Amino acid sequence: MGGDGAAQRWQSIRQVIRIRVGFVKSAARFNSLSVLALVGVAATVLAAFAQAEGFPQWAFPPANTPRAGSPAAAEVSRRVELPGAGRSFSEDALHDRYAAPDWFPDRHPPAPAVVLNGRRGVVAACGFCHLPDGSGRPENATLSGLPADYIRRQVAAFRAGTRRSAASDYVPTQLMAEVAANATDAEIDAAAAYFAGIPARAHVRVVEADRISGSEAKAFLLRPVPGAGEPLGDRIVEGPEDFERFERRDPRLVYTAYVPRGALAWGESLVRTGGSGLTVPCGACHGDGLRGGAGAAGPPLAGRSPSYLFRQLYGFSVHRRGGEAATPMQAVVARLTEKDMIALAAYAGSLTP
Ligand code: HEC
Ligand code: HEC
Repeated sequence: MGGDGAAQRWQSIRQVIRIRVGFVKSAARFNSLSVLALVGVAATVLAAFAQAEGFPQWAFPPANTPRAGSPAAAEVSRRVELPGAGRSFSEDALHDRYAAPDWFPDRHPPAPAVVLNGRRGVVAACGFCHLPDGSGRPENATLSGLPADYIRRQVAAFRAGTRRSAASDYVPTQLMAEVAANATDAEIDAAAAYFAGIPARAHVRVVEADRISGSEAKAFLLRPVPGAGEPLGDRIVEGPEDFERFERRDPRLVYTAYVPRGALAWGESLVRTGGSGLTVPCGACHGDGLRGGAGAAGPPLAGRSPSYLFRQLYGFSVHRRGGEAATPMQAVVARLTEKDMIALAAYAGSLTP
């Protein structure tokens, strides 16, 4: 980040957002619609800053929601369905962060209370963001199949403030930090054991491209949309097959991640050989096929969201993701460019979990 001017501008943007976030937190019931309105304001402020030299703002898309003010009563009570789910929720219930919409209760083991409901007014349900089966979404993280110890350690790092987002105003990470601050150790133990017991499954298709039809930053995704065509450039554009089903939190969604042409081969070569000393091979710590496993120092990476993985690699490189356990990763990425990190995220995401 450039000189003093840029630093000061960051500072004042942070202050504006802190004040607004503080205001919302003080509301007795965390009303998700007002949060979305707030996020819209923060996003506008951030967008003005988006051009700061060197920072990969594309990887931290804003909410960009048009939903300001209170929706009509008819809208919040409207019942919505998902094909094949055999149940429905009101629009309002879909936005209740203390009751994760569980469309397919038979497709996951019985979940502990903290996963489905959290603690009203205090701890948002893990399953609201990460989905009840832990499959996750690109703006948060897949939790299914992560070792329980790793899950506990990450929550502790969010709580201690050693794990932060590279973009200090990335709202999804702020919300995760709030959960970590308020959840009890017993709640985290229960959630960790639960998610660790669910096998991870593939839910992203990684596609190389020079050009895509178009892209839109919305709901914390930078997703592909129809359009007149645009160069992909050095970005990952990742979105669900159906945006409406995404908003309804359908855990069966398959995502497509467009990555730059050549990323997969370059990523594979970095992973296997370390790229002649640019980094070190990843398998020693992330296991065969990057699937983690007993004895692996690091978590599984195969088949996980490339945009999530990129944010983590970038976070290690600017030491916003820190703490003792992150020291080896900070060294692994120290000499890598943004392009290298895109390639690593693309290749890892393309592997079968
Ligand atoms: C409001 C949404 C939200 C809720 C609720 C939430 N999380 Fe998260 N969580 C996130 C986001 C966003 C991230 C990614 C943050 C980042 O990478 O900067 C995350 C990341 C994580 C990670 C790190 C995964 C990894 O691979 O390193 C763990 C572990 C985790 N969450 C556990 C939990 C648990 C356990 C709960 C419930 C007690 C929970 N989360 C509730 C949004 C949420
Ligand atoms: C010396 C062991 C080691 C090596 C080698 C290593 N990693 Fe890691 N990696 C770790 C550890 C340990 C963590 C967990 C860090 C933490 O707890 O914050 C991790 C975490 C990660 C994460 C974050 C995962 C998540 O769920 O948030 C990514 C992405 C990652 N590593 C990618 C790589 C890639 C790509 C390579 C090879 C270029 C690599 N790692 C090589 C040890 C290693």
